[in-house]
Amino acid sequence: MQKYSFRNDYSEGMHPDMIAALSATNLEQQQGYSEDVYCEKARTAIKEKIGNNDTDIHFVSGGTQANAIVITSALKSFEGVICATTGHINVHETGAIEATGHKILLVSSEDGKVKPSDIIAEINKAEDHHMVRPGMVYISNSTEVGTIYSKNELTALSAVCKSHGLYLYMDGARLGSALCSEDNDLTMSDLAGLCDVFYIGGTKNGAMMGEAIVIVNDSLKKDFNYHLKQRGALLSKGRLMGIQFMELFKENLFFELATHANKMSKKIADAIKAKGYAFLTKPQSNQLFPILPLKLIAKLSEKYEFYTWKKMDDEHAAVRLVCSWASKEEKVNEFIEDICK
Ligand SMILES: Cc1ncc(COP(=O)(O)O)c(C=O)c1O
Repeated sequence: MQKYSFRNDYSEGMHPDMIAALSATNLEQQQGYSEDVYCEKARTAIKEKIGNNDTDIHFVSGGTQANAIVITSALKSFEGVICATTGHINVHETGAIEATGHKILLVSSEDGKVKPSDIIAEINKAEDHHMVRPGMVYISNSTEVGTIYSKNELTALSAVCKSHGLYLYMDGARLGSALCSEDNDLTMSDLAGLCDVFYIGGTKNGAMMGEAIVIVNDSLKKDFNYHLKQRGALLSKGRLMGIQFMELFKENLFFELATHANKMSKKIADAIKAKGYAFLTKPQSNQLFPILPLKLIAKLSEKYEFYTWKKMDDEHAAVRLVCSWASKEEKVNEFIEDICK
């Protein structure tokens, strides 16, 4: 029996609307390197959703690539990037940032978030030119442990960054899920007002692959295409990204897909809460981290795939459960029944 997967939100391929659009446009001749009409339509649609025409939008194929290029293009050689210990660039990118020569300045975090006081502490540590100077703050929304930033929290981070001359960068691999969370009070236009640069994740929200980098700060716009090209990220058939993002944003598909993922995850979270189990972090998005007895984990593992995230004690571990834009409700219901048995 093939196990059903709650391991991640990239187990399925792409949304059928995108396949249809790719197929319908397949034999058209288009400009290369993201200068095709579909990339332009996608940019226009995204700018409309952001409510800011004065942004530069670039498409890349994945999150690690987006992070490495954004960070290295923004920093001077002697600058580092502040990041939570749990942050994706710290734990799951194989040293991609370090390989560009930039130090990651770590701040400890239980809930996956960076706080203004962490930034001030890092700035104060870097006394003079004998030390790496913080040049950017990296956050992700949702975070690596499924939590989301509130408008107040992001506003406070933005203010500290502005007053100390640091760029604020939001990794939005799961931005859809964050913005569609019941707890969310941020809009796309807030992001453009508060971040210097952010990206909108397509790969984990219905696209086969692709992330849309939105550059707000003028000083980061110049030369970005050179950085993309030099790192092999400027795709000759960039239309693949354009068509996918056009479909995601021409109406509300991006938000509908994220809402589905969140709804499926919330069903599971509610059932787990009702059974009296605790969570490692507050369930707010499509990633859940319930703390379950090892015996239950072993039983569930017979039918389902998911990560065991963190051992808590001799009898319990936190697992990661992720629902996607394509998670099947009947499988979610079956999983809930199996937990409740
Ligand atoms: C927050 C975040 N950023 C970046 C990435 C990296 O994406 P990719 O695997 O496409 O390089 C991921 C992937 O899981 C992620 O969760």
